[in-house]
Amino acid sequence: MMQIAVITGADRGLGFALTERLIREGWVVFAGQYMPEWPQLATLRDQAPERLHIIPLDVSSTESVQAAAQAVAQRTDHVDVLINNAGIISPAIQRPIREPQDYAEMQRLYDTNTLASLRMAEAFITLLDRGTTKRLCFVSSEAGSIERATRRSWFGYCMSKAALNMAVKLLFNDLRPDGYTFRLYHPGWMRTYMSGAKGNEADMEPEEAAAKALPFFIEPRADEDKLVMVDYIGSEWPW
Ligand SMILES: NC(=O)c1ccc[n+]([C@@H]2O[C@H](COP(=O)([O-])OP(=O)(O)OC[C@H]3O[C@@H](n4cnc5c(N)ncnc54)[C@H](OP(=O)(O)O)[C@@H]3O)[C@@H](O)[C@H]2O)c1
Repeated sequence: MMQIAVITGADRGLGFALTERLIREGWVVFAGQYMPEWPQLATLRDQAPERLHIIPLDVSSTESVQAAAQAVAQRTDHVDVLINNAGIISPAIQRPIREPQDYAEMQRLYDTNTLASLRMAEAFITLLDRGTTKRLCFVSSEAGSIERATRRSWFGYCMSKAALNMAVKLLFNDLRPDGYTFRLYHPGWMRTYMSGAKGNEADMEPEEAAAKALPFFIEPRADEDKLVMVDYIGSEWPW
């Protein structure tokens, strides 16, 4: 049976690099497109038209997520791996508590970084039920670890990732007995586009980050009954 993945936020950054690697490894990928003006996905589809399907996807919109699930269901009867990758940050997050906070912006981060993964799981569950690995992957962040938190602000981002981790735990409790498998991941500091422009000061190119992330996402683990947050060097993170 053809191995099939769905990935969110696939236009650029880690999402695009993961899409590229999955295609190279022979997977069929439904890649969520949020930025139709960004050319990388279309160029990749020209190289692998049978294996890359581009689907319009705004993970902050329930209608968009449901339409994407319907579009995928028209082409396949199952999905093996869902990678919840899309995520956003905001310049406003840096404001310490003595400065005016932007609560609308925090809600936008929560919607995209946290609730989106639930929307995706809900919309794709019928397709995942028929998949081989029933694998739900979540790109979280060290910023979501409460135990290791050292920042003094970044409220919207850190809180959205901590809440994502809780969502993953609840999904694990519910779906692990049905055979679902889970991957919760911190990809490292990447030269991606979260600030709007490429972050050249960071540690890793997205291609390098994807090379480290993909085996964790698609290979089996010794103990699927244990839910852990793992980083790009394979270390476990406290929650
Ligand atoms: N970069 C890092 O160092 C780092 C560290 C730890 C964790 N992460 C996590 O890694 C994941 C991937 O981030 P990245 O660094 O690859 O960032 P990126 O280069 O900005 O890529 C994320 C992609 O998701 C898109 N996106 C934004 N809002 C969306 C929405 N509502 N629906 C669908 N797609 C949307 C972005 O579009 P726009 O560009 O238009 O926003 C962008 O194309 C995120 O979850 C992030 O929190 C990143």
